[in-house]
Amino acid sequence: MKKLIIINGPNLNLLGKREPEIYGSQTFEDYFKNLKSKYNNFKLEYYQSNIEGELIDKLQEVGFNYDGIILNAAAYTHTSVGIGDAIKGIETPVVEVHISNTFSREEYRHHSYISPNAKGVILGFGLKSYDLAIESFY
Ligand code: DQA
Repeated sequence: MKKLIIINGPNLNLLGKREPEIYGSQTFEDYFKNLKSKYNNFKLEYYQSNIEGELIDKLQEVGFNYDGIILNAAAYTHTSVGIGDAIKGIETPVVEVHISNTFSREEYRHHSYISPNAKGVILGFGLKSYDLAIESFY
């Protein structure tokens, strides 16, 4: 069974409460329960941190023994050379995910330090972006 992990960055612990007009009204914990039963042919894990270094630690920890990483680095997407370098340094393929269409938003969200090193990018489909990312590992 393929082992996948969803890694969420800063403020995504507030999903459901945070700007629901952009990010929806469901908590990630509730959504993750659905994901686990829908994709029960994968071993699916979830990790969230608001701290850049902890996200890098997690990428290094899973990056040599998991089959896939689904990463929403949130605001760090647009700022973190360190997370970009971590992705370059590990072996596990990373699919970059965003809930919103970052290209239809502020210009500072148009640049990503993740994309050049990602296997692919899925954005703008709401929480469904995560479903689509998991499906890329079939
Ligand atoms: C986000 C988009 C980012 O620009 C933003 O900082 C987030 C969430 C998304 O999933 O749409 O926190 O990654």
